[in-house]
Amino acid sequence: MTDTLNNDTAGAGVNDAGYATFTAGGFTFRRDEYFATIEWPTGSHQLAIDSFLRSMQRDVAWGFFYGIVNFDEVFGTMNHYGNVDMFAGRFNEAYRKAEVDYSENFDHDVLIECFKAILSDWTNEGYDPFAAPMETGSAFGPSKGTNDAAVTRRRVVADRMVGVPGDEQIRSDETGFPINRGFEDVPQDEPIVRAEAGYEDEVCSFNLFAYLSRSDVTWNPSVVSACKESLYCPTTEEYILPVIHGNDRVEWFVQLSDEIQWDVEDRDTGAKRARVVMKAGDVAAMPADIRHQGYSPKRSMLLVWENGSPRIPEMIAKGEATVHPVDF
Ligand code: PHB
Ligand code: FE
Repeated sequence: MTDTLNNDTAGAGVNDAGYATFTAGGFTFRRDEYFATIEWPTGSHQLAIDSFLRSMQRDVAWGFFYGIVNFDEVFGTMNHYGNVDMFAGRFNEAYRKAEVDYSENFDHDVLIECFKAILSDWTNEGYDPFAAPMETGSAFGPSKGTNDAAVTRRRVVADRMVGVPGDEQIRSDETGFPINRGFEDVPQDEPIVRAEAGYEDEVCSFNLFAYLSRSDVTWNPSVVSACKESLYCPTTEEYILPVIHGNDRVEWFVQLSDEIQWDVEDRDTGAKRARVVMKAGDVAAMPADIRHQGYSPKRSMLLVWENGSPRIPEMIAKGEATVHPVDF
């Protein structure tokens, strides 16, 4: 496991554009006005900086998420829950064949600190990697200020259900966030609960659509209810899911409004497997051996339903659980 981690900000270590360079194990990260450049012992790769920062933002906020977070078809991370692989070309058939793929294992805390430092240093004032492109400033250009308030935003994680007494999360009418321009037609009235005497603290409901209509982030599922390992993680989407997510478990999607198109590929090779067009009311299950990326032409609401059990990858490996949600 690699625990070497450096950035060369000590000394005069910023480049002409004003950005620090970072290293983690055999990987080096540099940014210029337009690109992030990643180098590893057998190759190098460039990503447009806006897209790189959007992916980095998700990887950091989600603590490397379930399974694999591909920033694009070359670079990404694979979560082993406690430690994490950072890779280049590992899930790309051409890189594998040419034997230029590379992967290194890191302690979770070590790599997340490195990624947080990159995100903080490389995000300029006015650019919010969580926001839809039309709702934020530019990621490009020389280093100019920071936007730590945006990049350190915490994801909403309910222990029970939003609004239930004892849960820290609050309902839509109390968030103080404005209704998003895409959701001005969403009714804001809250359900009326008439509980039997003595049950006032146990019966609860809230308007999920109103709640989501005020979300100021995109592609960032938040846990709004938890029932044992069953997690309801709705999110609001616009433009492109910044990462290509490689599943390590089945997950369900319920399209709550508007439309998202999904590209579904083989998780290991990237070979195309399906294109799924989901309209409001559609339900889809994503198998555990694919990777996917979503496209939302307008702001839309999506419910991601996850089984958060830490045992699932192991159960699949042992053949105790299938990669298909349903066997017809
Ligand atoms: C997913 O990878 O399944 C995913 C991630 C973020 C979203 C929606 C879906 O906002
Ligand atoms: Fe996914």
